[in-house]
Amino acid sequence: MEDAKEEIRARLAIEDVIGQYIELKRAGRSLKGHSPWGTDRTPSFMVSPDKGIWHDFSSNKGGDIFTFIMEMEGCTFREAMEKLAQQAGVELRRYSKDDKQQAQRRQRLYDVLELATKYFQFCLTKNKAVMQYVFYQRNLNKKTVENFRIGYAPKSGRALVDFLKKRGYTAQEMEDAGLTNRFGGDLFKGRMTVPLMDVTGKVIGFTARIIEKDDNAPKYLNTPETILYNKGRHIFGLSQARDAIRRSDFVVVVEGNMDVISSHQAGVCQAVATAGTAMTENHLKSFARMTKDIRLAYDGDEAGIRAAERAISMASKFGIYLSVIDDYHGCKDADELIQKDPKLWQEATENYRPALEWLLEKYEVKYNLKTERGFQEYCNEAKRLIDEIDPADTVLRERYERIVSERLGISLEAFRAKKIAAPEPKRLKKPNLDASKAAPAVSRAEKNLAALAASGKIKTDDFEPMEFNKDELALIFEERYAQLSQADLEREAQELLVKVKRERRDLERRELEAKISEAEAANDEEKIQELMAQLSKMLREK
Ligand code: UTP
Ligand code: MN
Repeated sequence: MEDAKEEIRARLAIEDVIGQYIELKRAGRSLKGHSPWGTDRTPSFMVSPDKGIWHDFSSNKGGDIFTFIMEMEGCTFREAMEKLAQQAGVELRRYSKDDKQQAQRRQRLYDVLELATKYFQFCLTKNKAVMQYVFYQRNLNKKTVENFRIGYAPKSGRALVDFLKKRGYTAQEMEDAGLTNRFGGDLFKGRMTVPLMDVTGKVIGFTARIIEKDDNAPKYLNTPETILYNKGRHIFGLSQARDAIRRSDFVVVVEGNMDVISSHQAGVCQAVATAGTAMTENHLKSFARMTKDIRLAYDGDEAGIRAAERAISMASKFGIYLSVIDDYHGCKDADELIQKDPKLWQEATENYRPALEWLLEKYEVKYNLKTERGFQEYCNEAKRLIDEIDPADTVLRERYERIVSERLGISLEAFRAKKIAAPEPKRLKKPNLDASKAAPAVSRAEKNLAALAASGKIKTDDFEPMEFNKDELALIFEERYAQLSQADLEREAQELLVKVKRERRDLERRELEAKISEAEAANDEEKIQELMAQLSKMLREK
């Protein structure tokens, strides 16, 4: 693997690889271009051919040709490697003894998941009560049940495990596939099962819904993250929706997996879902590769609004037309609307509005514009939103600036000139965060501080900088700090240090919160208590 990587690196010039995506101009020993992720006005993307690395100052990403392809294509390391190997004319197979074993292990997991799917499908046909639930309560028809491969996981607790064991699968393989609980028994018991599939339709996990109401169990139980299933990348229903999305050039993103299934049955086959409303940048990138017309069918509740806000700020980076479907005729979700009348849902998906416009209206309702405070808060939120619009798109900006300033009864100029206050820190209520919503892995401050430390000009006694590529750090130092006096460098380091320490503490907190929601999903009361104690200790220490 390492050898293959080196061979590819040796055969490809970094500027050629990157040059396929970005126009690069020579600037001394390096090359410069515009960031593919930011909205920089001056070129902030640098490539150093000598060192074989790149760095993007506007998004603070950097790395080698492999990480560049991963970032650009939103793909895995493996996929980037294959792509570049092809360009370089390197035959990966010759290098991959280990990889072959890896591939065999993965194949076993696919196989065991496929078998589990068939087993669950079989169990469904044998259980009248569950058939009743699927076909009459959920109103799914035979074609839909087959298309989405819906099944039933028996209650016994070891049914699947015993079945798979007889077919020659080990406990380890079942665990790696995410099919067992921590006692080695069946993870899914007495639930309707819906396989999660990759884009090609291969099963990579399950989501499973309780059938009999039980307040002590979560409604849905999902496969934990495995080598095959990555929650932050997975898009439910994509293998079934792909053709329709490409053909009609739009996608409808709904909140729940069952909404996807009902929607397809109702003839809107462009529907997909991300896990809950946690849409990540990876998800958006995947959509953007198929279509630029993304229609969110989220609840108008607080979670839906938050989700739309996040999506808007990401979408502007990818040139996406983001809109919102919000007329549910009083129903709580797409599924309910479809139960009422599939036609209403079909109409709703054609009756969409720009996300920004929708969000501004939500803010109008949320803040009382008659009070000074409400007025200010609305103004701040609106300004922040409008600032997410690509500055080059002057027309669109003006359109929204006008809407807001007219709404507020102020002049366009006053609104434009307004400086916004920093957002209020969001207070922590009950921790309910998703690991995939966590902040980017590496912050700008961490990298900058590491660059200062690596230069040897700054002492950071009690502080351990994170590890980065030395050449990249040198490049950052050159670009950012080389001109500064010693006093300025020291001041800068002080400021960064404070920031980094705070960021690390926040990260720790978020990780704890994510663990808590995991424990909540698993209903592990003991663990929840333990983690909550840790969390409150941490918050007290602040
Ligand atoms: P909802 O509670 O809105 O479920 O959660 P739903 O899709 O309407 O389900 P039905 O119609 O009652 O069967 C929306 C999504 O949140 C995730 C699931 O992905 C679900 O589709 N979820 C919800 C969980 O993962 N676990 C839960 O316990 C509940
Ligand atoms: Mn529902």
